[in-house]
Amino acid sequence: MDGVKVCIFDAYGTLFDVNAACRELSKEVGEQWQELATLWRLRQVEYTWLRNSMNEYINFWNITEDALEYAMETLKMKNEELKNKLLDLYLKLEAYPEVEKVLIQLKKEGYQTGILSNGSEEMLASAVKNAKLENLLDKVLSVEKCKVYKPSSKVYDLVEKEFKINKINCAFFSSNAWDMHAAAHYGFKTIWVNRFEGNLEKLPGKPYKIVQTLEKIVDIL
Ligand code: LAC
Repeated sequence: MDGVKVCIFDAYGTLFDVNAACRELSKEVGEQWQELATLWRLRQVEYTWLRNSMNEYINFWNITEDALEYAMETLKMKNEELKNKLLDLYLKLEAYPEVEKVLIQLKKEGYQTGILSNGSEEMLASAVKNAKLENLLDKVLSVEKCKVYKPSSKVYDLVEKEFKINKINCAFFSSNAWDMHAAAHYGFKTIWVNRFEGNLEKLPGKPYKIVQTLEKIVDIL
């Protein structure tokens, strides 16, 4: 991958384990905890796309709460106290096990690193701090800067603007297939971190490489 100078990571599902909140409280949530985690995540991303189309931006924290409320209502587990506990955990999601090691390797090799995420600045700062990744990331870019969600090209534009770099010198990593397609279509060298054994979507943009975890990415670059 000649010319790559900056490695940009999606946050949720790519660096941070989005199922961790429901899993941690699985005893309290009950046997439907996986179903709740899946529906919560699904509505969370759907609400970002719908609000993009409606020009009705609210930040990702509010979207995350709305999506959780919807999911709990749908699964007949409405419970304000549990909702608040799950939301609190969303601020402290675990990073996937290989993340810290890989970021250390990238820094050693001289790459700049960053996050580009739908998450609000506060959510991202909290997750990064909790996972002790502050010193391994040059920039944490939130869509709060442009007030529109992925896959708007305005979001991907933030990387060129903030890193003062051309997109052809950026590698972009996402586990979310739709995000990967959009980033590849935009012009990043894009690596799909296919953590959940999904299929490619029928969308424009093709990944440069597909990996299962971030473990071996230094060898690809
Ligand atoms: C993000 C979502 C898409 O971090 O995972 O932007």
